[in-house]
Amino acid sequence: MQNIDIIKKGEELHKLNYEELYSIISSSDADQELFKAADRVRKKYVGDEVHLRGLIEFSNICANNCLYCGIRALNRDVKRYKLSKEEILSLARSAKKYGYMTLVMQSGECSVYEDDEFCEILSEIKSMDFAITLSIGEKSPEQYAMYKKAGADRFLLRIETTDPELYQKMHPNMSLENRMASLRYLKAAGYETGTGNLVGLPGQTDSSIAKDILFFSELGADMIGLGPFIPSPGTPLALSKGGTFIKALKVMALTRLLIPDANIPATTAMETLQPSGRMIALASGANVIMPNVTDESHKVEYNLYPGKPALHESALKCRDDICKKLLGIGRPVSKDYGFRKRGFR
Ligand code: 5AD
Repeated sequence: MQNIDIIKKGEELHKLNYEELYSIISSSDADQELFKAADRVRKKYVGDEVHLRGLIEFSNICANNCLYCGIRALNRDVKRYKLSKEEILSLARSAKKYGYMTLVMQSGECSVYEDDEFCEILSEIKSMDFAITLSIGEKSPEQYAMYKKAGADRFLLRIETTDPELYQKMHPNMSLENRMASLRYLKAAGYETGTGNLVGLPGQTDSSIAKDILFFSELGADMIGLGPFIPSPGTPLALSKGGTFIKALKVMALTRLLIPDANIPATTAMETLQPSGRMIALASGANVIMPNVTDESHKVEYNLYPGKPALHESALKCRDDICKKLLGIGRPVSKDYGFRKRGFR
């Protein structure tokens, strides 16, 4: 089958097999058709509205040593911080003023708060009428349950790569099986579950990327956030070649074809590699943006990779700039919580 016909099939049936995915990923002859098809599928299943999720990077302390990540434990150049409960709640109050309906609580993989205290924070945020997303790494089933009870609705845990060998290489002392088990547990526990991958990791193949996309679909992911790998100083991959914007965009667009009603963010890493990258992503399958609400003095220390846009801008300016750009492309800002609206399966 020609790539153009594969895309047509994906748009109609939302089903593509490994060979078909591989064929699209490994050639560039129908990229524009793919992006247009993903845009139509996005419009049909989740509409024009863009959901804004306010992001609080509440700690950059991390126990892990993912080879690509700027805040890995062994990177001594990072000034570590943990926001106090009051600081977090104050950012949440600001986020409310900005009109965000979801707060994403993100940190390194390290329990910087005891569970009781973390649950208290979640409950207080919940009482401000937010949907809550956690992006805090792997926890135990008991903790997932506890956080859910305290008010968390969604959980982001990127698989990063489904290639067992590459996963092992990139994530010392971690296990692909554990990560997959966590994701399955989160689904079963009733979280809206998000995953995603890094596109362009050194040693990653197109074949493994095709399998990543199949994994998102098999898991029944509610949200898929992905982006290009960007080499980060102070990491073992600082001098490696990074991923490309176009490839990440293609993986995102294919994901939209396969999971038509998922929530898919236009990620910051895409904007880092390409000016207006997030707006391009919104026209190629994405329907979510995660504006940062972390204060300027801390977000400069949350450096997963270099070149993050708007690093020195205030949260208010981030919001205004994004809203202005959305207006420019005729995409309204959603006023609801932005839970997954199931229109498929
Ligand atoms: N380049 C791009 N994305 C990165 N992340 C971590 N380090 C990098 C990097 N160097 C992504 C990971 C993680 C998410 C929070 O940030 O995919 O899941």
